Amino acid sequence: MRGMWTMRSDTFIKSLSWEDKMKPEREVRLIQLGVGNVGRELIRQVLACRRLHRTELGLRLNYVALADIQGAIWKEDGLSDENLRLLAEEGAQSLDRLGPLKETGKVVRRTGEREGRMEIVVDVTAADTSSLLLTALERGCGLVLSNKIPLASSLSVYRRLTANRNNERVRYETTVGAGLPVVDTFQKLLDTGDTVRRIRGCFSGTLGYICSRLDEGVSFSTAVQEAKRLGYTEPDPRDDLAGTDVARKALILARLAGYDLETTDVVPESLFPTEMSSLSVEEFMAQLSSLDEGYRRRVAAASSRGNVLRYVAEVEEGRCRVRLAEVPRDSLLGALRGPENIVSFQTERYAANPLTIIGPGAGPPVTAAGVLSDILALARKWRD
Ligand SMILES: NC(=O)c1ccc[n+]([C@@H]2O[C@H](COP(=O)([O-])OP(=O)(O)OC[C@H]3O[C@@H](n4cnc5c(N)ncnc54)[C@H](OP(=O)(O)O)[C@@H]3O)[C@@H](O)[C@H]2O)c1
Repeated sequence: MRGMWTMRSDTFIKSLSWEDKMKPEREVRLIQLGVGNVGRELIRQVLACRRLHRTELGLRLNYVALADIQGAIWKEDGLSDENLRLLAEEGAQSLDRLGPLKETGKVVRRTGEREGRMEIVVDVTAADTSSLLLTALERGCGLVLSNKIPLASSLSVYRRLTANRNNERVRYETTVGAGLPVVDTFQKLLDTGDTVRRIRGCFSGTLGYICSRLDEGVSFSTAVQEAKRLGYTEPDPRDDLAGTDVARKALILARLAGYDLETTDVVPESLFPTEMSSLSVEEFMAQLSSLDEGYRRRVAAASSRGNVLRYVAEVEEGRCRVRLAEVPRDSLLGALRGPENIVSFQTERYAANPLTIIGPGAGPPVTAAGVLSDILALARKWRD
């Protein structure tokens, strides 16, 4: 195995001794795939924390490679802060101004060339990067992902990425609930021998917003239009309304719980009929009102039973369900408003009162901060 990894438990920044703080800076080499919303914000946060990382952690995060869909740039000694600032402002379009772009696969195959160097591949793309990540892992890199797709692809890829927790070299906190400590909390429950009975939650801010507008008597089409206008939806709102993203998050939690589920075992309820899949975005938006009456009836039926509709993910007894469900209006899920996320772990120890995490589950600032925190957690293990 290349690279140097130890497995001592995390130490908090503040617990570092004066001698620790005086240790020479250790370089952490970053290879970042994706320079989109999260990727650019991550660059900004790395730059903004330079001094903090130096004085408190004795670490320097050095970007040696950045890649977008067109290719990658590799600078053996690291990109200058000035160039990083440019990328954070202008995004991937500036990448080829900094040097000739190389094929991303080739760049990833350059990692791990020298013993003892800490290199972390940071995946903030929204693509199936499985083979790139597996190559990086074989070459001794650490991995940090906000991209759910590889972990929610085939079970065999998931197993290879997370095998024996890969000596704690792979972290993916932000794949579920963005900056909220969902994966970490769940892992702690599992590591201390707790047994999961049920995980339940609402993992989509977009669908959360739409559901709470339906509670208020707003029509489905208006709620979707509002969510699009507010920037809560993807450019094509069907990417949210199909429930695929929620299904991926639920599948990641189900697999963490030890359920051997394939992608095809989690079929999310789509909030629009299949016939509307082939329409252009404009046609789809124009025809949305044809769904209003159906949703009005569902909301009214739920309300007559003291319930509201929520887009719920549930992991229980080896199964994983993702659907629009009725929940009591005064329950935690029913009380959820707007784009907040919630996840609730009912376990042997948290049986009567499930352990529940609520908060904003999306947005580049909180997501990038979660990614940065994962990078630092890996770096601290290595440095210690
Ligand atoms: N935004 C959030 O609040 C949030 C929260 C939690 C998790 N996430 C996850 O974090 C990831 C990034 O989100 P985002 O909002 O930053 O998305 P985004 O703005 O669409 O950025 C994705 C970036 O990845 C690039 N890319 C696509 N395929 C690539 C490849 N094969 N190699 C290298 N780069 C590639 C894209 O390039 P092009 O633009 O040229 O296609 C784009 O720059 C997604 O997987 C998302 O699900 C996001």
